[in-house]
Amino acid sequence: MAKFLVEGQRTLGGTVSINGAKNSALKLMVAALLGQGTFRLENVPDITDVKTMAGVLQALGADVCFNSGRMELTVSSVEGQTPEALVKSMRASVQVMGPLLARLGWARVAKPGGCNIGNRPLDIHLSGFEQMGATIEVEDDMYVARAPRLHGADITFRYPSVGATENIMMAATMAKGRTVIRNAAREPEIIDIQEFLNLMGAKVKGAGTSVITIDGVADLGAANFSVIPDRIEAGTYLLAFLITGGSGTIENVIPEHIVPLLHLVSAMGAELEVEERAVHVGSPPKLKPFQVSTAPYPGFPTDLQPQITTLATQAFGRSRLVEEVFDRRFGYTRELLKLGARIEVSKRAVFVEGPTKLRGAQLSAGDLRAGAALVLGALAAEGNSVVCGVEHIDRGYEAMEMRLQSLGAHVERTEE
Ligand code: EPZ
Repeated sequence: MAKFLVEGQRTLGGTVSINGAKNSALKLMVAALLGQGTFRLENVPDITDVKTMAGVLQALGADVCFNSGRMELTVSSVEGQTPEALVKSMRASVQVMGPLLARLGWARVAKPGGCNIGNRPLDIHLSGFEQMGATIEVEDDMYVARAPRLHGADITFRYPSVGATENIMMAATMAKGRTVIRNAAREPEIIDIQEFLNLMGAKVKGAGTSVITIDGVADLGAANFSVIPDRIEAGTYLLAFLITGGSGTIENVIPEHIVPLLHLVSAMGAELEVEERAVHVGSPPKLKPFQVSTAPYPGFPTDLQPQITTLATQAFGRSRLVEEVFDRRFGYTRELLKLGARIEVSKRAVFVEGPTKLRGAQLSAGDLRAGAALVLGALAAEGNSVVCGVEHIDRGYEAMEMRLQSLGAHVERTEE
């Protein structure tokens, strides 16, 4: 079990370069299952979830070679059964259903476990597949989907689910006829997967808007692609500068992907200078409190909610955050209380009083973004903290302790 030992109250400075987006790379890897031949992906983050997904793809018959940000995937024949243990360990594995249904006409995928941020049903995914002619059964805690030949459908999502949008997009690439997805998710990662699929020979348009249209084709080839920068990693490090009263530069970011965060921290008093692929941020003498609700893109991202809540402990006044995307994403606040934070949680809202002088404590991360938030709290706290559960952080952040050290933080990794 890995831990971070953090000596707080070091003011961060310098420049951090952002890696490729976890929530794009994972889906591009899965999309390769639709194609044939050798794929080369650039700017792939070296994180545990990518390695887990590589394991899933290898179990399905793909060859995966991954080295310092470059991935080579070779797909010829594909199996239909995903390894249960891997699917249970990473929800994103359910994204293979679309490609397997489209390519093989069937897929057996373990029901993904719940996780620390709430129930995460798959009804929108499964209903989309059924509207395209698939039958879905549950056998031994596995979803078994069958569709001799998927056909196009006009599908309206009850909620703009990111994963369901990607799953149905991929299934529809080789379905018979046209599929329209209405109330589709609009995240930048959806645009990435559309571009990748089209390079493979698919006919997808509309990604980034609420209506995506896919015209089925007979088969797909291979493609090379570079993953967009990770907007959540970028936001996390920007908040690390602010919570330590520091100033610095986030490089290799697409500023338009983090506009809600930039607007929010600017309203809090942060000094910002935005360039084409970089953001410079400076801390104000006093951070102002704020009110924000998370929302699907282009709203404020739920994946930065724990991190911005932690920054709110340093704002002068009372802040309020409402979590509208997941139904249980405040677990980390129990850990912030150990640092001395003044936080109240109601059903979907959290209220934070500040500024509070945080004191180092023993903390335990329950999930990826909660872990990032606890590290931010420890960076701001007086004295030393221990953050347990770093394996959660490693799922989505490449070498966080090295990057924070390069910015002047005292963070050390210990393995037990
Ligand atoms: C993706 O998860 C991301 N993960 C999440 O990032 C992110 O928080 C989420 O999108 C929202 O932006 C990956 O891309 C691998 P959803 P996903 O389907 O696709 C409900 C991180 O930290 N829902 O948009 O699972 C669901 O319960 C992770 O990087 C249904 O009810 O998100 C949730 O409340 C955490 N039925 C809401 O919709 C469904 O069929 C959003 O889920 C599907 C979803």
